[in-house]
Amino acid sequence: MIRIGWIGCGTHASEMLLPQLARLDVRIGAICDIDPARLDRIADRYGIAHRTTDAHALLATPGLDAIGMAIGPAQHEALAIAALSRGLPVYVEKPPAATAAGAEAVLRAAERVGQPCVVGFMKRYSTANRIAGNVLHAPGFGPAASLLGEYMTAPTYFVGNPDYTGFLLHHCVHAMDLVPWLMSAPVTSVTARRHEMSPGKLLLHVGFGFASGAIATVVMGTHQSRGTPMEWWQVMGDHQRVEVRNVHEVRHFRNPPFKAAVAGATLDPAVDTLVWEPNFTAAANEDHKGYHALLAAFVARVRGEASDAPEIEAGWRAMRVLEAMIRSMKSGHAETP
Ligand SMILES: NC(=O)c1ccc[n+]([C@@H]2O[C@H](COP(=O)([O-])OP(=O)(O)OC[C@H]3O[C@@H](n4cnc5c(N)ncnc54)[C@H](O)[C@@H]3O)[C@@H](O)[C@H]2O)c1
Repeated sequence: MIRIGWIGCGTHASEMLLPQLARLDVRIGAICDIDPARLDRIADRYGIAHRTTDAHALLATPGLDAIGMAIGPAQHEALAIAALSRGLPVYVEKPPAATAAGAEAVLRAAERVGQPCVVGFMKRYSTANRIAGNVLHAPGFGPAASLLGEYMTAPTYFVGNPDYTGFLLHHCVHAMDLVPWLMSAPVTSVTARRHEMSPGKLLLHVGFGFASGAIATVVMGTHQSRGTPMEWWQVMGDHQRVEVRNVHEVRHFRNPPFKAAVAGATLDPAVDTLVWEPNFTAAANEDHKGYHALLAAFVARVRGEASDAPEIEAGWRAMRVLEAMIRSMKSGHAETP
């Protein structure tokens, strides 16, 4: 059984990651947080005896096969490099560092020791995005021409502290990975237009360019309610398109004939629209958001099995696109990642 050392017992780890990790055949061999009360609460929950408030002491624990962490951008960079330097594979939540240069330093450490550093881009693994990706990346779809997307959040964290660093680093970074992944191509230019409705309520319209000439536009902002659906993507090819609504509904529109004048009109599996929605009443512990599937891909990677887990090179690329977007927010011009 794989023994994982875990760093960070905050909201994301305790609510999302550790419950999904516990469904896999792994043991959390040691756990760490600088907050002793949080550390004890989460260590008690999972019956983990080996607990410490010192991340470097955790990394030195004998017998660990891998390290997972959900802390914050600067700590991710420092502790991912420290873990890799001990020869341990790493799962690091996004963002993998506070800057693209920091993400590159993690990449170089992973290359130096030949160990994987998997980044928490779970949106690639949400059931609906996965279905969309498989349709889009299959030869039958052809080249993607365009992407439209919305990826919103609420002003909760930004009113009173409207510097938006958290919005950019913690929220927008997901789109910096998902957009090129859906489009099957790296981003070659980024143009951002901004509108601040009031302090804490920022709206961005971001254009992404690709070498093929394909174009993407994504609206991101901090002025919608988290009680509403927050995410919508559409990728268009030639006479077909795929839509994903709020990671729970996928539609593949193709090229059906008009039906009004056809008495025998029916649904043709070859051309009519295909729709997928999950059955939320299934008595199965399914995670449609993608955390479980991503952690499973990480564990497979630790075992040396084939895995399509997003590695730190994708994290570095996403950070470069993010920084190009931030430069464009200031310059108003297209910027190159
Ligand atoms: N993928 C997602 O959907 C998603 C969602 C939320 C958060 N996240 C990411 O997860 C990370 C953590 O976010 P959060 O909301 O859980 O934050 P949080 O503040 O609730 O948790 C961070 C935890 O790390 C601990 N910590 C800080 N420095 C430490 C150190 N040096 N050693 C050990 N522990 C330390 C803190 O005490 C805290 O308990 C962020 O990078 C965030 O972007 C991802």
